[in-house]
Amino acid sequence: MSLEISFIDLFESVTSKAAFAASKFVGKNDKISADKAAVDVMRSEINKLDIKGKVVIGEGELDEAPMLYIGEELGTKKGIAIDIAVDPVEGTNLVAKNLPGGISVLAISEKGNLFNAPETYMNKIAVGNDVEKGAIDIDYDLKKNLSNLADCKNKKISDLTVCLLDRPRHLKIINTLDDLNINKKLITDGDVTGALLVTDKRFNVDMFIGIGGGPEGVIAASALDAYGCFFQGRFLFTENNDIKRAKSMGIKDLNKKYEINEIVSGDSIFVATGITDGDLTKGIKINKNKFISQTFITHKSSNTKEIRINESEIF
Ligand code: FBP
Repeated sequence: MSLEISFIDLFESVTSKAAFAASKFVGKNDKISADKAAVDVMRSEINKLDIKGKVVIGEGELDEAPMLYIGEELGTKKGIAIDIAVDPVEGTNLVAKNLPGGISVLAISEKGNLFNAPETYMNKIAVGNDVEKGAIDIDYDLKKNLSNLADCKNKKISDLTVCLLDRPRHLKIINTLDDLNINKKLITDGDVTGALLVTDKRFNVDMFIGIGGGPEGVIAASALDAYGCFFQGRFLFTENNDIKRAKSMGIKDLNKKYEINEIVSGDSIFVATGITDGDLTKGIKINKNKFISQTFITHKSSNTKEIRINESEIF
């Protein structure tokens, strides 16, 4: 079974509209309103679709009563059963501060094929599909990963570029990269995009590493899987509540290393529309009574990997 190719248009329209709604708050220093605008539109647009959708990654748990909560059922309940991971605004700070890289994103799979990720941090590593199997592993020492990567890519180690979130928790990694004279692409937010920069040579990123959101890890994994890229992740549980929640979600081994095919399996569709201009896509632009959106799309079974530009009526 695979997801119908017509779903690409339907879900691309959902993130385009959500991105447009959030774009009204670009630079307004109000990340809550930007997120709410995108959530409202995303929810009402998905609810129009003939699917039996269930949110597996969303805006929180039912007891917090948000919209697009984990477990929420979406769609007219007439069509195929699918799992949906949503991030209506990925990079809320980027949108609030009018910085590059704010996107509206969602990933879908057939029911049961997307990992139901707890809302904790995840240690992640991703490299492109041109790297030999077994060369990279989240459990290897960083220097070993980098030297293997340089060998696979036939590059000098100092010619590698590694992308990671610019956070104090990454200081040790940053120091190692500096010692090896490796190029860093430090991002302030938005590690879904960060991970996807390994998909294509044009982004000039050889590896993505570091700790970011677990849900963002799962969403990125669906597009990385369509590209045949390598990704591993390990959740980090520090709070008692997180541990309890993880156990209630059926996670027995809290220290488990997840391979990409344990996070996403079967067919999947990933759509990410730019809100502000970024590495993956341009942001929303207005042309008279229309808005123009750019969406990064992958669909595994049809081997679709493209940037789609759309013009729609302003609402
Ligand atoms: P939001 O859009 O929810 O603000 O997340 C942005 C983000 O940068 C993610 O891309 C990343 O996974 C996470 O925050 C990192 O968390 P932290 O800011 O706590 O390091």
